[in-house]
Amino acid sequence: MSVGGGDRLGPQTKAHFPLLGRQVRGRPIVYLDSAASSQKPRSVLDAMNSYYETINANVHRGAYEIAAQATEAMEAARTAVARFVNAPSADEIVFTKNVTEAINLVARSWGGANLGPGDAVVVTEMEHHANIVPWHIMAAEKGFELRWIGVGPDGQLDLSDLDRLLDGAKLLGVTAMSNVLGTLNPVRRLADAAHDAGALVLVDAAQYVPHLPTDVQALGADFLGFTGHKMCGPTGIGVLWARAELLEAMPPFLGGGEMILDVRKDGFLPNHIPHKFEAGTPPIAEIVGLGAAVRYLDGLGMDRVREHEVGLTAYALRTLQDRYGPELAVHGPSEPACRGGVLSMSFRDIHPHDLSQVLDDRGVCVRAGHHCAKPLMRHLGVPATTRASLYVYNDTADVDALADALGAAGEFFAP
Ligand code: ALA
Repeated sequence: MSVGGGDRLGPQTKAHFPLLGRQVRGRPIVYLDSAASSQKPRSVLDAMNSYYETINANVHRGAYEIAAQATEAMEAARTAVARFVNAPSADEIVFTKNVTEAINLVARSWGGANLGPGDAVVVTEMEHHANIVPWHIMAAEKGFELRWIGVGPDGQLDLSDLDRLLDGAKLLGVTAMSNVLGTLNPVRRLADAAHDAGALVLVDAAQYVPHLPTDVQALGADFLGFTGHKMCGPTGIGVLWARAELLEAMPPFLGGGEMILDVRKDGFLPNHIPHKFEAGTPPIAEIVGLGAAVRYLDGLGMDRVREHEVGLTAYALRTLQDRYGPELAVHGPSEPACRGGVLSMSFRDIHPHDLSQVLDDRGVCVRAGHHCAKPLMRHLGVPATTRASLYVYNDTADVDALADALGAAGEFFAP
């Protein structure tokens, strides 16, 4: 079935992902948990395997052929990643473990040097814990204030008090797309307001970069984090992009090999960016895998990815509404153009963990829980939700399977 553009990409791309050929409990797998971690196409797996089979060596160190090739492969990936988000320079791409580490790097390094009593950091009520807890930790240590932009109707940020919240703030931290609501936040507008108030802007783009064409310059960000495993790449590799002059001015985050130009008994000289922030042997194979993931997504075309997901999200919202009406609430914006393909559901009073177990019996993989967003759960008045999330390989058949499995759960838990 092809409705509303929902099948533009999924059926063709499914075959690129080996895991999607397997069965779960005797049924074809229906993978709807890409907001937690995406599947990996054959090209990414092959690139990582080929690295290990042909050029495995440490980077930026050895003077021999394969060490040079490993270094070239890693730096080619850095260049590809920079292009993917329209970063002005590959030197602005710092490889981290994930977005959590990227934000902790900014909080500890930039925050440690620039925040103190009387300062404020503004975050939103829909942030992932990764963009909350590092600021709590630093606020306790440095004595600055943490302020909150609330969530209004239809899962959008309530910006009615923005000027007051930004008054005297030094940094605004905001998710580009909520991992619970799917809300696409007005990052450019927020960045302009923050800059007018003299604050920098940190964007958690974990759920954005995998799904929409990303231009860090057009977004007006100063710092932006994203992660490989949600965008067809491996786990263990994330990215902090930051404007070069900020990275130049920031003190190192972790100390060790590679991040220095010189070490003496009385001190050390930090390396140039980005290496200043990449202490120790990096996850080379994972970086190569991320480079392959970026090439894969480039091949699909990020405009097409977005178009596919808007169509499929519209189909999913319509299908769930038609089948279950008010018994099933999908939190977040009702308009597909204002959101990504993250569908956090509350179905009658069925507990999300019970619901996800019945879905699992039918091969449907979703995430149940608080999604590392407890302040948002409190705002929504729920302990948890059942979250289905869509990506390039999903199609209307997956949505139909979800809707059928929800029906089975509805019968199983009939009052
Ligand atoms: N942050 C990831 C999620 O939302 C793990 O599921």
